[in-house]
Amino acid sequence: MKLCMIGTGYVGLVSGVCFADLGNDVICVDKDLSKINSLQKSIIPIYEPGLEELVRKNSKSGRLKFSTDLSTSIQKSDIIFICVGTPTKKNKYEADLSQVYSVANIISKNIKSFKIIINKSTVPVMTGDKLEKIISKKIKKNLFSVVSNPEFLREGEAIRDFIYPDRVLIGTSDKRSNRILKNLYSPLISKGAKYLNTSRRAAELIKYASNAFLATKITFINELANLSEKLDINIEDVSIGIGSDKRIGSRFLRAGPAYGGSCFPKDTRALVYTSKASKTNLSVIETVIKSNNKRSDLLLKRINSILNKKIKNKKITFLGVTFKANTDDMRESSSLKMIPYLNKRGAKIRYYDPTGKKSEFDKFKNVNYKPNIKEACVNSDLIIIHTEWNEFKLIDLKRIVKKRNFIVYDMRNIYSPEKMRKQNIKYFGVGR
Ligand code: UDX
Repeated sequence: MKLCMIGTGYVGLVSGVCFADLGNDVICVDKDLSKINSLQKSIIPIYEPGLEELVRKNSKSGRLKFSTDLSTSIQKSDIIFICVGTPTKKNKYEADLSQVYSVANIISKNIKSFKIIINKSTVPVMTGDKLEKIISKKIKKNLFSVVSNPEFLREGEAIRDFIYPDRVLIGTSDKRSNRILKNLYSPLISKGAKYLNTSRRAAELIKYASNAFLATKITFINELANLSEKLDINIEDVSIGIGSDKRIGSRFLRAGPAYGGSCFPKDTRALVYTSKASKTNLSVIETVIKSNNKRSDLLLKRINSILNKKIKNKKITFLGVTFKANTDDMRESSSLKMIPYLNKRGAKIRYYDPTGKKSEFDKFKNVNYKPNIKEACVNSDLIIIHTEWNEFKLIDLKRIVKKRNFIVYDMRNIYSPEKMRKQNIKYFGVGR
């Protein structure tokens, strides 16, 4: 099939490349010329394991193309995927849909034969209705169909998540589109993915509800971790204990810093906004947002007590600063709150991240990037394990810190407290 992906951000690029790998002809379009120039040379703007190889392979085979020419790309394709950003509006909860609507206008000017227009961007319920309205101002309704097909890709695992999704969700009541899309996704369905056809509005809500539910699960276990710390219980036992109940499920029950990234914070806010606009109360999700916003302050308090309230001049090392492992994404990472706070209180911060230096910290005096774990850790007073990269899991800390009485604050619980104790390392985890 001939596909056009509009937007080469995370969702558009990964989905486009994977669709090409399944044998489709795909044009990925973006208005950012320098990005398209790089992609044409197989230079990838984001860190995502396995993506570069797939871009190279499918570009070489001619199935994957990159372009800035949106109009021609739309005309050449049967299925158009809208994959542009839907950030939160400045200082508000509401999602900014200006990019989605601007793309819809361009699409409406370029439809000459039947097209399926798929919204993959995460959008509030009824955005599909609005898209249909915009396009139908110029185009007869039998020449297009607007479908919701949300993605559930995790950064760092996106290719695996695309190829082996738990479900493929198609929101449409149009039988023809449903048939075509079931065929497009048939290679994934035959590998076990559940195919779900719902109304368009339901598909839009399922996307937000999924992220809000996962965010709730994490916040739930994070709050229980606070309680476990007070009661001398290991939260890992609690996670396993409750997660073994199939009705609860074991995933997304890892206690840690505040959840971050490009989806959970933004989507929970947007869902609350939708509920308010519909005069409905989503108090659970509102509480999740509040609790998560407070989480970094709570962890900073713990750092303060670990250091006996003496933060000034302490050498503090952050291992990992992105919002989680296997990504270079800094969006809504808790390190963006913690590092400036500690810096302001006079700590000397060094950080190492496998995805390199972060411009977000350039403006701070005494916050320095180090190119490897060793240089970041040597002579530190406190090592904070902020993300769970594999390369942080087996560090011989005693050997590389080379200092007596250093402390480890393992915010991802990747080390065994017993082993640390045996090595005489002062160790703190989360909820244990
Ligand atoms: C998420 C959804 O998982 C994905 O389906 C959606 O399409 C996009 O948003 P992503 O933001 O890439 O994906 O990361 P994810 O792995 O879900 O983690 C989100 C945040 O939750 C991270 O900050 C992570 O550290 C945190 N998390 C996750 C926990 O603290 N504990 C867990 O058990 C799981």
